Amino acid sequence: MTTQTAQAAQAAKDERPLLSVQDLKIRIQMENGVMHAVDGVDFEIKKGKTLGLVGESGCGKSLTSRAIIGINPKECETTGTIGYDSADAADSELNLLSLDPKGKRIRSIRGRKIAMIFQEPMTAFSPMYTIGNQIMEAIRTHRTKNKKEAKKIALEMLGKVGISDQEKRFDQYPHEFSGGMRQRAMISMALSCNPELLIADEPTTALDVTIQAQVLELMQSLQREFGMAILLVTHDLGIIAEMCDEVAVMYLGKIVEQAPVKELFYNPKHPYTKGLLKSMPRLGGEKSVRLDSIEGSVPMPIDMPPMCGFYERCKDRIEGVCNVNAVPKTDISDQHTVRCFLYTDRPEGESP
Ligand SMILES: Nc1ncnc2c1ncn2[C@@H]1O[C@H](COP(=O)(O)OP(=O)(O)OP(=O)(O)O)[C@@H](O)[C@H]1O
Ligand code: SF4
Ligand SMILES: [Mg+2]
Repeated sequence: MTTQTAQAAQAAKDERPLLSVQDLKIRIQMENGVMHAVDGVDFEIKKGKTLGLVGESGCGKSLTSRAIIGINPKECETTGTIGYDSADAADSELNLLSLDPKGKRIRSIRGRKIAMIFQEPMTAFSPMYTIGNQIMEAIRTHRTKNKKEAKKIALEMLGKVGISDQEKRFDQYPHEFSGGMRQRAMISMALSCNPELLIADEPTTALDVTIQAQVLELMQSLQREFGMAILLVTHDLGIIAEMCDEVAVMYLGKIVEQAPVKELFYNPKHPYTKGLLKSMPRLGGEKSVRLDSIEGSVPMPIDMPPMCGFYERCKDRIEGVCNVNAVPKTDISDQHTVRCFLYTDRPEGESP
């Protein structure tokens, strides 16, 4: 291959999404029927970009993000495609869903290529071992077997996340760290293997505002340094505005609207997105609110007939249309999609 052809091939690869989720469905058998907890979700994330996944409690954000690395509990029946296209030829053009969730292959991707941080850092650390040892073990599993080198990287990473006196902290147990420090330590463990994709599920919800801002800044600076992509799950539209390139709004297991962040904030289409934005006190303001202020509550997606899940709460609903048909996805523009009958041709034979 000539240099030019190789460069063109690399440029084409850089344009391809790193992660491409298609028609992801997660069903859970409940006593009173089948819950369609995630119901046909599609999204893509390019190298170095951040996609925000936002929506009320219970809409399927965590199930979606955990499905990517195959860590949902076994009662979750998952179908669809989770395409992963690592820069590494050995892990390019994979369907992560086709891998055995307990197998060697996904375990080598989990942690090394795709790292995840959670709201509660205690879930990432065992109380039995020192923080330093646990970070070092992650590095030894995925990056280098050499103990000395692994310790050096672990200390460096603790420094990068703003933990001072690293040598002393290295030998402390998780309970000796404050909540904010544990969160930083978890981020340093997640990033110590230079992942290509970081999945951050409510990474700052448990932290106070000042620490929250520091942790978000830290994620951004590490993203710039390492060029990783981020899937950021949050309730908080203020965080979305600050951190994300694109946003996917989830409601009842479906993405109801998706767009570049500015487009979504200035030209929202779905009544649910508009409600969420109204619940923000001031765009770009310092204070952001949680989303649960839209009237009514989210129904359980158990044996739902084909209809819009937002129907009962929607002030714009069209009776005889929205409550009797599945809502198709409509393209507003190249990068902006919405699921709402206000933007689509109504199904034949139906009238408002
Ligand atoms: N193991 C399980 N068994 C039964 N139901 C589950 C299980 N895991 C999740 N669910 C249900 O699936 C739905 C989606 O859950 P998920 O945790 O993805 O929501 P979420 O959007 O992350 O919410 P939150 O913002 O509260 O974290 C919820 O109704 C939840 O109760
Ligand atoms: S499809 Fe109908 S009920 Fe659903 S959000 Fe749109 S207008 Fe409202
Ligand atoms: Mg969650």
